[in-house]
Amino acid sequence: MKTWLLALVALFLAIPAAAQQSAPLTVASPNGSIVLTTGVTGEGRAWYRVDRAGQPLISESRLGFLFTDAMAFDRNVAVAGHERSSVDNRWELPWGERRFVRDHHHELAVTLRQRPLDGSTLIPAPRDIIVRFRVFDDGIGFRYEFGSGWGTVRIQDELTEFVVAGAGTAWWTIGGDWNRYEQLYQRTAIDAVSTAHTPMTMVLANGTHLAFHEAALVDYAGMWLRRTDGQRFRATLSPSGNGARVTRAAPFPTPWRTIRISGDAAGLVESDLELNLNEPNKLGDVSWVVPYKYIGIWWDMHLDNWSWAQGPRHGATTANTRRYIDFAAQHGFRGVLVEGWNIGWDGNWFGTGDAFSFTQPTPDFDLEGLAAYARQRGVRLIGHHETGGNSAHYDAQLEDAMALYGRLGIDSVKTGYVADAGGVIAGRNPGGSLQMEWHDGQWQARHHLRVVEAAARNRVAVNPHEPIKDTGLRRTYPNWVSREAARGMEYNAWGEPGNGVDHEVTLIYTRMLSGPMDYTPGVLSLEGRGGRPMASTLARQLALYLSLYSPIQMAADRIENLARFPRELAFIAAVPTNWEDSHLIDGAVGDYALFRRKDRNSADWYVGGITNGEARDFDVALDFLPAGQRYTATIYRDGPDADYRRDTRGQIVIEERVVTSADRLAFRMAPGGGTAIRLSPVRSRARR
Ligand code: NOJ
Ligand code: CA
Repeated sequence: MKTWLLALVALFLAIPAAAQQSAPLTVASPNGSIVLTTGVTGEGRAWYRVDRAGQPLISESRLGFLFTDAMAFDRNVAVAGHERSSVDNRWELPWGERRFVRDHHHELAVTLRQRPLDGSTLIPAPRDIIVRFRVFDDGIGFRYEFGSGWGTVRIQDELTEFVVAGAGTAWWTIGGDWNRYEQLYQRTAIDAVSTAHTPMTMVLANGTHLAFHEAALVDYAGMWLRRTDGQRFRATLSPSGNGARVTRAAPFPTPWRTIRISGDAAGLVESDLELNLNEPNKLGDVSWVVPYKYIGIWWDMHLDNWSWAQGPRHGATTANTRRYIDFAAQHGFRGVLVEGWNIGWDGNWFGTGDAFSFTQPTPDFDLEGLAAYARQRGVRLIGHHETGGNSAHYDAQLEDAMALYGRLGIDSVKTGYVADAGGVIAGRNPGGSLQMEWHDGQWQARHHLRVVEAAARNRVAVNPHEPIKDTGLRRTYPNWVSREAARGMEYNAWGEPGNGVDHEVTLIYTRMLSGPMDYTPGVLSLEGRGGRPMASTLARQLALYLSLYSPIQMAADRIENLARFPRELAFIAAVPTNWEDSHLIDGAVGDYALFRRKDRNSADWYVGGITNGEARDFDVALDFLPAGQRYTATIYRDGPDADYRRDTRGQIVIEERVVTSADRLAFRMAPGGGTAIRLSPVRSRARR
């Protein structure tokens, strides 16, 4: 044998077993375009990498954990085994942007083994973690699985990294700041991000679109992404008042860490990656979860005309609620939300919430009578549980509160957690001090599921505001119908800076990737407090129903204002909230979006979307319509002089045309504008 070869063999034998570098393993997506590679370094650090079309996309990125009470799972790790599998099936969503979802992926499950260290007893026995990678044509997901041998695991932080290989632009909001998820988006170079919430979206210089997020966030802390240097991001878990960010008895899996990957904006928006990584429906028959539209005793409070608190300006009175129920019945809205109906709003409830009763109405609100009156008129009251961030206080009343709604046929509830970030009250520590938690920490992740499960037992759907982010759990719990988790319409009521003209179009490519949002469009007056104008045209308010998906959609304005716009109101009453299919016809992240959607319950199609501050022209081929059928297109578009910056923002053109699949529709969106089009089959006289 040659001497150099002998030397090499000698060197190899000298490396301790734990630090041996095994050959990397790869797993490709079904069409081969995305390839994930994983292995361990010479020091025994586990890593993964992702390539797309043969080019690096995520360069070598670390995997591992820090614990509060044990040595890190970081170095001295080896691959002890692996398994492969693949799936190709189709499943059905009870409600959503589409009816059917295809789950097509290849899986690689790698067992990482950390051995005891020579000369130390600090890792007394070998420790295994399985990393399960799933590679789809539209992205990747992976999670860690702790086996039962781990006992109680106390995680200080994750060492998971995402190193983005190419330069580009990122759209993100800051993680860990006081206003939770309710921030305006930043649009910066990738290497200028600090700590971001997910979903965080990026477009690389080569056109690749990426969105970083997570799936199935159950009994674990939410993940923020902290840029450590260059384009290297590290997972950092939402903190806990109890020290360890996650405390859990093994066996358990972590949530999936996900990256949507696409060549264009449509691929990003239409991906079902996170839904596919969640468990199937656990609730059985969910026919009682009904998509709907609603109005509410709400905008007048945000305008400061009415109060949540009792007194002369109290909004939630029996008389006001009857008027809202009558309006809903007359105009075809199923739901009436009533905020401020219960005891507890009179003092300082923000961040405290300890005076709230979730069963006791104020004396001027006849809960039982109104629930019955609503049902008589074919309308349902929508319940409201504002907690002021005091989740422990809510937990204590949860069963009674949900049972009350169940008994009264109030089949959905909006909850709320108004407290600054880190200000969730989780109860008392043994010494009597308060246990404070984060809105997206492990404790609150558990709380939200307690609420969703208690609601399900009473056939109630849940829509939390100031919530934990959506990670696709609507698949497992279809009564978790919507949530806020970003700046909603309410900011346009309060004052500067409002939501501005870029916010809604940015939401489409960021927040909305995680799931439905209760944004509450439909402020047709286009005015906040004191008549302050919103950054929107009138047509855009209608277009929002086709742009920001939720199975429950509000017409947010006060009813006196809605009544002033009968034609627009008729559109809102008709627009579906449950789709057979949805497709982004055209769009650019943060700039504009145009969708087409097919109603799940009729033969109607809809086309609509919004633009940022720039006017845009569209010319849409209607070749998606079935051939040979004539459709009446009712078009709601910006008037020729409409402009969100001017008094012309309310200028709208509403027109009808008869079209077929051979036609095209041309229209212009004004600055801050939008378009909404309903396409209904023309019925022959004979069939009428
Ligand atoms: C904040 C919510 O986002 C809003 O919709 C609600 O009216 C208030 N909290 C009061 O609960
Ligand atoms: Ca809010």
